[in-house]
Amino acid sequence: MGAGKAVPISLDGVRDKNLMQLKKLNVALFPVRYNDKYYADALASGDFTKLAYYSDICVGAIACRLEKKESGAIRVYIMTLGVLAPYRGLGIGTMLLNHVLDLCTKQSISEIYLHVQTNNEDAINFYKKFGFEITDTIQNYYTNITPPDCYVLTKFILEPQAKK
Ligand code: ACO
Repeated sequence: MGAGKAVPISLDGVRDKNLMQLKKLNVALFPVRYNDKYYADALASGDFTKLAYYSDICVGAIACRLEKKESGAIRVYIMTLGVLAPYRGLGIGTMLLNHVLDLCTKQSISEIYLHVQTNNEDAINFYKKFGFEITDTIQNYYTNITPPDCYVLTKFILEPQAKK
């Protein structure tokens, strides 16, 4: 019974009402405690922050912050992307990241970046598959975890428009 039936994976937005889901995921997934600004930025980013559900269980999330560059252009910063361990390798991380990459394309946002701990090979390899490149290394970026260093991974989504 039910053989071959795909389990529905769905994405939902983050609102005041379900913000606790994101908080619980972050405690389970990351060694860093996130402050009120993180959650305010996540809420303010609208569709750029999503929870992922496996059937009706909340198992992952992507949380972004929208930043205005000096030029006035918006760039996206991925604050966190994570999927609970038993649900990894099912395409949920891909679904979350592709959702945000699609939004960037639709909104003509050309730059998306994130920080990742230098020893997090799984995450670095994951992001490289989507065309992210190491654009910087910051020593002592983290204060409470070892190693304290991070890479900046950046993906440039659109080619700069040629000047007419
Ligand atoms: N080791 C090797 N490859 C992996 C791993 C892994 N642990 N996880 C995913 N991949 C590969 C898969 O093989 C897959 O490739 P394929 O499609 O060619 O088979 C590809 O990455 C996509 O896999 P998904 O199933 O879509 O990814 P998943 O749902 O497992 O999520 C994620 C990937 C988010 C990196 C997950 O491993 C995770 O939550 N890790 C812990 C939290 C973390 O480190 N997050 C990133 C920190 S940086 C930041 O948050 C900004």
